[in-house]
Amino acid sequence: MERFVTEKELENEKEIQKTLRPKRFDEYIGQSLLKEKMKIFIEAAKRRNSCIDHILLYGPPGLGKTTLAGVIANEMGTNLRITSGPVLDKAGDLAAILTSLEENDILFIDEIHRLNTSVEEILYPAMEDGELDIIIGKGPSAKSIRIELPPFTLIGATTRAGLLSSPLRDRFGVTHRMEYYTDEELVEILIRGAKVLEVEISKEGALEIARRSRGTPRIANRFLKRIRDYAEIKGNGIITKKIVLDSLELLGIDKEGLDDLDRGIINSMLENYNGGPVGIETLSLLLGEDRRTIEEVYEPYLVKKGYIKRTPRGRVVTEKCREYFKDKE
Ligand SMILES: Nc1ncnc2c1ncn2[C@@H]1O[C@H](COP(=O)(O)OP(=O)(O)OP(=O)(O)O)[C@@H](O)[C@H]1O
Ligand SMILES: [Mg+2]
Repeated sequence: MERFVTEKELENEKEIQKTLRPKRFDEYIGQSLLKEKMKIFIEAAKRRNSCIDHILLYGPPGLGKTTLAGVIANEMGTNLRITSGPVLDKAGDLAAILTSLEENDILFIDEIHRLNTSVEEILYPAMEDGELDIIIGKGPSAKSIRIELPPFTLIGATTRAGLLSSPLRDRFGVTHRMEYYTDEELVEILIRGAKVLEVEISKEGALEIARRSRGTPRIANRFLKRIRDYAEIKGNGIITKKIVLDSLELLGIDKEGLDDLDRGIINSMLENYNGGPVGIETLSLLLGEDRRTIEEVYEPYLVKKGYIKRTPRGRVVTEKCREYFKDKE
């Protein structure tokens, strides 16, 4: 079953997340360092009438990588082409996209760590020299031809920069790690989102949502939509602190943003191993989940919250977490 607090985009929310997507820098909240850098690049590129350097964005899902690519294209006044590593199956797929680009366009490749080697090899000369080498025909009559590409900017996005091959990584002029958002930034995002959705929200209500959104705008937006529905049915349509608390309780999300699964992990560590250390393999057996899912999906928020510590001997429940769980009983 999908968790309600997953950072990944759910099937049924594509439309709403798109509606809430900022189009300009002044609507793109937080990530201030990145924004400053990008504004300067864009200004300089516009003056020279050229395009900006290739950019690699990495970090957890839902922090605004795709949104940023859109903002950059809007600010540059160019087209945005979106594709992804797994979709670009054959070298020809990428060649077709590259040859259809117009001058200074932005090409966004999501999950760029999942590109085939054969596709990656097309990308190198395209990024470096603006050239595309393709082979036409087969056997002895095969000919290699070279096509000049218009200048373009590649924006690559990945959740796992470590999986990128180093020749690919080296061809990006800028590499930037996306940061989790602060509660204050999420409040701003929520207040703006409420305006777009034409629903009234109180500052306190927004803060309660923000605190449970795991530093992730996508989760904040998802909560906003769900709570809006709740406010219409159970209240007078206004999202107040009380409405937020009631509706999130209904969704099983507690005041620290933990859901059933988070609580399950901690409880099983406390009950079976007195809080640890528990080896990752043992934890994996205990929860019936593979190791990578635990490390990449379940653990990060608990570690970020300071509830679980990773030690050489295994995972340990912290004192802070014990206190929190004691209070719950
Ligand atoms: N800086 C921001 N300000 C306001 N809203 C934002 C910001 N960043 C992201 N959002 C909102 O969060 C949602 C998710 O953003 P986006 O789709 O860009 O994430 P992503 O990093 O591309 O995720 P993934 O890695 O899953 O592709 C969007 O609907 C957008 O409205
Ligand atoms: Mg995306």
